[in-house]
Amino acid sequence: MLEDKKFYIQTHGCQMNEYDSDKLDDVLQHHFKMERTNQPESADLLFLNTCSIREKAQEKVFHQLGRWKKYKSNNPNLLIAVGGCVATQEGDKIKSRSPQVDIIFGPQTIHRLPKMIEDVIHKKRELQVDVSFPEIEKFDFLPSSKKKAPSAYVSIMEGCSKYCTFCVVPYTRGEEVNRRFDDIIFEVSNLSKLGAKEIILLGQNVNAYKSENHMKDKVYFADLIRYVSHIDGVERIRHTTSHPIDFGEDLINEYKNPKLANNLHLPVQSGSDSILMRMKRKHTSLEYKSIIRKIRKIRPDIHLTSDFIIGYPGETDNEFQETMDFICDINFTDAYSFIYSPRPGTPATLEKDDISMETKKKRLCELQNIIREQAIAYSKSMNGTRQSILVEDRSKKKLGEYFGRASNNKIVNFKSKENYIGKFVDVEITSVKKNIVYGELIDQKIEKEKYNTRSEVAK
Ligand code: SAH
Ligand code: F3S
Repeated sequence: MLEDKKFYIQTHGCQMNEYDSDKLDDVLQHHFKMERTNQPESADLLFLNTCSIREKAQEKVFHQLGRWKKYKSNNPNLLIAVGGCVATQEGDKIKSRSPQVDIIFGPQTIHRLPKMIEDVIHKKRELQVDVSFPEIEKFDFLPSSKKKAPSAYVSIMEGCSKYCTFCVVPYTRGEEVNRRFDDIIFEVSNLSKLGAKEIILLGQNVNAYKSENHMKDKVYFADLIRYVSHIDGVERIRHTTSHPIDFGEDLINEYKNPKLANNLHLPVQSGSDSILMRMKRKHTSLEYKSIIRKIRKIRPDIHLTSDFIIGYPGETDNEFQETMDFICDINFTDAYSFIYSPRPGTPATLEKDDISMETKKKRLCELQNIIREQAIAYSKSMNGTRQSILVEDRSKKKLGEYFGRASNNKIVNFKSKENYIGKFVDVEITSVKKNIVYGELIDQKIEKEKYNTRSEVAK
């Protein structure tokens, strides 16, 4: 009945949502042989995969559903489904704000969608809601991915049990649940056979990962990285996101593994110990510094990024200054920074938030300026270095130009006559303009140098 119909997915938020949307794609193609379109106006099923991490992200959901309403008036058979964290948090309340919605599902119930879709069709469009957390059953019921991509995400754990005072994730995605070790290894092997060269291990707190292998031995995140790096065809491993309190010596030592990429995203939120304590981050700024010092001993040029929250309730000038000093001390080479957004049901909403929006914006701007300077300095330090790039795509703006990522996760642009998409190439970084990195293919460079020498001889 749904065969040959088309679906459209719009994804908001983090990489976990991107991953879930890919899985949604697999489920629909596998169960219904439906086709994905990037034109919502021609779709028979519209999916919105939502994010509720900050208020702005949440508001985007209702604006988008408003825009989709007109498609439904043109096509009454159109189905609209809302998934992700807003779906979990708001549940069937979404229906009262957006009555055009037919299905509401959570991040852990993607695999139940085929049944929900069939039910909504057969039960004459009665609203279907399932935002429960059925442990990790999702992975047992999802079809294995058939996608051929040079870089592939693999979810290793779901949810978060850290309960930082400002964050909705433990309430929307549930507590930390680890995926079975053998299943992860199996999925990585399959992806590698399909051509994946880079594996991105994904979870809210990947370094909290613990499980057992087939011998019933305990395995932790560092073990998982090591096992994955031994799988044929896997040449580079990334991971996101980690929490400082689970960053043990075994994981730090794993940075000696050349397959582990040369970047680390380690959210810290604040450089002030009093704020870290109020946020219940369970570590101090010194403990964070100690992790970084040890990692930089192994990887002196690691690209180190973080997340910061500005204007946490009661943040004083002094506490903000501590964060600024911390940023300078550590020399983060990039960061995401956000103004604190009170999220319903989180403990931080009970704290007194008496800082004006003007002050918060001023602080954010100051912080972003310093981060930008550090980011540019890092990019410039790449000048003259040789980098191995996994080529992602052609440039949309410049003919004959391609781009890909270096091991440190920086995008590098380069010209090439040949199409190397999906392959590793060696590039020498030749210029950095406003934090945009350009390089030259080493082989082409050798050719050019030969040519120059010849023409000099000719002179
Ligand atoms: N470990 C997680 C963190 C998830 S949230 C991960 O996978 O990245 C991502 C970032 O959003 C957090 O690190 C934090 O900086 C920011 N954030 C979370 N809740 C917020 C809030 N209430 N207001 C502003 N920023 C928030
Ligand atoms: Fe959120 Fe803290 Fe977990 S930021 S995702 S509760 S580690």
